[in-house]
Amino acid sequence: MKTLLPILKTAMLLTLLSIITTAYAGPGHKDAGMGGGGHMDHMNDVLKTLKNELGDKYNHPVPAATEEQLVLGKTIFMKSCVACHGESGKGNGPASAAFKQKPADFTDPDHSKFYSDQGRMHIIRKGVKNTPMSGWGSVLDEKEILSVHAYIRSLRSNKNEENQKHGHSDHKH
Ligand code: HEC
Repeated sequence: MKTLLPILKTAMLLTLLSIITTAYAGPGHKDAGMGGGGHMDHMNDVLKTLKNELGDKYNHPVPAATEEQLVLGKTIFMKSCVACHGESGKGNGPASAAFKQKPADFTDPDHSKFYSDQGRMHIIRKGVKNTPMSGWGSVLDEKEILSVHAYIRSLRSNKNEENQKHGHSDHKH
């Protein structure tokens, strides 16, 4: 009988520990889909793939948008992207309700800085594996990809938005 008590104590301690660790992991983080890894793991994986595929180009700057790109980009967005990404780009389009992995919020300045501009253009070209985001490289040409990227970048709500919209001193065209 004497050996039972320590075993029971250990068992209780373990239960307690697992309750604490689950609470810490937070709801929805552990089972965010994508076969085990959470949302951040997924984004870091995507980031690695982008950097692998683009090499140095990943960090090349993308010039400020021209008015022409914004107009063309908006037309493409309203036609091809709005169902998932939503009219305002918040990722709440009608189709997105069915997804486990929600489309990104283009207006969130922190999130939209996670990938570089080149990285995001590459996502538009190639899509993101195992998510509803498919590649558009066979549908849109490079000018169209640049334009729709310029448009979604203009949805970002930050103080520099005006600069991006109207170009600044280094604008060469
Ligand atoms: C069928 C739904 C769907 C359509 C249509 C769609 N997307 Fe997406 N998109 C997604 C989802 C879901 C994600 C999130 C992918 C992930 O979890 O990595 C995403 C992610 C992205 C990202 C990465 C954003 C980030 O910073 O995390 C970009 C850029 C993007 N989409 C652009 C576009 C553009 C431009 C179009 C139209 C040409 C488009 N998408 C059409 C569902 C869609």
